[in-house]
Amino acid sequence: MSQNQTTIAPQPGIMEISLYEGGASKVAGVENVVKLSSNENPFGPSDKAREAVIRAAHGLHRYPNTDHAGLRGAIGEVHGLDPDRIICGVGSDEIIHFLCQAYAGPGTEVLFTEHGFLMYRISAHAAGAIPVQVAERDRVTDIDALIAGATPRTRLIFVANPNNPTGTMVGLPELERLARAVPQAILVVDAAYAEYVGDYDGGAELATRLPNVFMTRTFSKIYGLGGLRVGWGYGPREIVDVLNRIRGPFNLSNVALEGAEAAMRDREHIARCQAENARMRAWLAEALAEKGVPSDTSCANFILARFADAETAGACDEYLKTQGLIVRRVAGYGLPHCLRITIGDEASCRRVAHVIGQYMAERAESR
Ligand SMILES: Cc1ncc(COP(=O)(O)O)c(C=O)c1O
Repeated sequence: MSQNQTTIAPQPGIMEISLYEGGASKVAGVENVVKLSSNENPFGPSDKAREAVIRAAHGLHRYPNTDHAGLRGAIGEVHGLDPDRIICGVGSDEIIHFLCQAYAGPGTEVLFTEHGFLMYRISAHAAGAIPVQVAERDRVTDIDALIAGATPRTRLIFVANPNNPTGTMVGLPELERLARAVPQAILVVDAAYAEYVGDYDGGAELATRLPNVFMTRTFSKIYGLGGLRVGWGYGPREIVDVLNRIRGPFNLSNVALEGAEAAMRDREHIARCQAENARMRAWLAEALAEKGVPSDTSCANFILARFADAETAGACDEYLKTQGLIVRRVAGYGLPHCLRITIGDEASCRRVAHVIGQYMAERAESR
């Protein structure tokens, strides 16, 4: 053992964590790449959010406020929710982390679905809890399987709705059925992609009405602020009170608070991004299907393109890279034969469809 190597062991679970890898943004030797690997908004944030961030820079010598009242007020107004039942975090990742830290721990279980977001497993391990993965049915959350998978030790059930990376979702009555069947656990409806669905409140009404439903949301997707790191959660007052006790008082910077508040208030920008995403999502799904690459109907800002097998998907990914297109492999989510493709602007969607078409044609010819 080298002299500076510690023998002090970390808390149980920590060494089980596999580090999360973000979507790649570079390809060696290729210029002008298009990044379609992190479900970012291709149009970026509202101009009003950019201006607010620049204005906030004048106050960088001041600590931010600790209660996030301005931002919570704006979220409450826009969504028709009580600001006292809202908590803001460094991305929804931090809210997920708070939930595990507060409610899970050694001897408890945290449930999530087969192709669920990787942070659930990571945050469960970080809390020393046992992560339990439950099968989906044809890449869709299976409520009966979650109910069957719950035990008296289950404290949290995470359901991303729509889910990443499948893009599929289940109806609110199904989520209510789950919450009612597992009163010993908090059902966390992760609604990071809610704005892309259309007529959907992300589980807000359920979280208003039921004592064991909590909703998480983010500014990283349709608000185009992934780099600012702001998310929020909404639910029963008691849960918000618990989470606030472990939240660092200055977890969000002035810049993050001001930028997110301005972004929340600019509804026109959000409406434009929603419309454009819906248009290009339908176009891309159809264009790929015509080229022999099917996908499930997506409710989010990406589609999960399905190939014959893992080898075909991997080779297609390599081919896309040579053409400057970065998409996401999802083998880590149990989907090695799929590629997740973020809905970019029209030019990017046309480019990715064209290149996948080329790849499929070349592959067919070489057989
Ligand atoms: C389902 C889901 N939940 C939560 C997040 C975390 O988002 P953030 O921490 O940026 O708010 C993501 C990000 O990709 C996601 O896909």
